[in-house]
Amino acid sequence: MSSFEYDKIADSGDAEKLKQILTQCFIGSSEEEEKYFQAVGLENFRIIRQNGEIAGGLAIIPFSQWWGGECISMAGIAAVGIAPEYRGSGAALALMQNTIREIHNRGVSISALFPAVQKLYRKVGYEQAGSFCNWEVKTENIQIHKSTLPLTAVDSNSEILRELYQKQASLNNGNLARNPFIWGNIFQNQDSQPVYTYLIGASDNPQGYVAFAQKRTDVDSLIQIRDWVVLTPEAAQSFWAFFAGMRYSYRSHFVNANRHDSLARCFNRSYDFDIARTKSKIKIIFPLDVADS
Ligand SMILES: CC(C)(COP(=O)(O)OP(=O)(O)OC[C@H]1O[C@@H](n2cnc3c(N)ncnc32)[C@H](O)[C@@H]1OP(=O)(O)O)[C@@H](O)C(=O)NCCC(=O)NCCS
Repeated sequence: MSSFEYDKIADSGDAEKLKQILTQCFIGSSEEEEKYFQAVGLENFRIIRQNGEIAGGLAIIPFSQWWGGECISMAGIAAVGIAPEYRGSGAALALMQNTIREIHNRGVSISALFPAVQKLYRKVGYEQAGSFCNWEVKTENIQIHKSTLPLTAVDSNSEILRELYQKQASLNNGNLARNPFIWGNIFQNQDSQPVYTYLIGASDNPQGYVAFAQKRTDVDSLIQIRDWVVLTPEAAQSFWAFFAGMRYSYRSHFVNANRHDSLARCFNRSYDFDIARTKSKIKIIFPLDVADS
């Protein structure tokens, strides 16, 4: 079997070929892939070739992550895709081995990704470190109706949102120090639905925020929580009361991501309404400090 060569994108021909492969791998459209490439930046993609032909590639996205109150460098691995005709021949393994070597040589402390296939990433040293889930709550079941803090509409570009998020993230191991790519995704309209953002608490002493979109389906009206920060029990109570206030017009809402516990922990008592896990994925992580061991 001939060996693989690891490379950066050299020219527009390479870029087009990788876009085609990733569009097929992730069942996307060429417009979506184009947008994704622009958001990530061509310089952050890597490819694997065999006999000079591109077999697949991935993106290395520079992040920082909070651990023990310290913000450390992290390489997020995304869009790992190998063209069908090259699969099963070790192409992805060669791509990942080279990627780990590169980011270790750059001095990056840690790497994380959401795997579709655990075996591949375990073979190069990643291990399971967390999970990401969607939670669903029926608004009519929320039994917290009394808000103790005001909620005020706020612009999604407001610096206060970034400050509040950083306060919360620095207290939680594994939370991202978000870059513009992540912030952009949160507030990006989906299905032409705007994202509404509310500050929780007085403007001179905000204690959190919530950002959400609304969606009408054939049977339901849904609220999709895109992001939130709750720093105090009062903020958590006001968060829930805000959505309980929508119980006559909306049947359910989704709490996206794995920080649902932070909302629950703010209370001294347990929730008396059901929260169902609707979708989940595993996050795995690789400490690059031990890449050579
Ligand atoms: C997942 C994918 C990248 C694997 O590429 P590949 O080149 O076929 O993988 P490799 O041949 O290098 O396999 C490396 C190891 O992973 C394992 N593996 C690969 N695909 C697997 C799968 N679908 N399920 C379970 N294990 C798998 C292989 O068995 C191999 O381990 P082994 O040597 O012990 O048998 C490829 O199938 C793909 O592009 N899929 C579509 C996009 C996708 O899902 N990407 C993953 C995003 S996290």
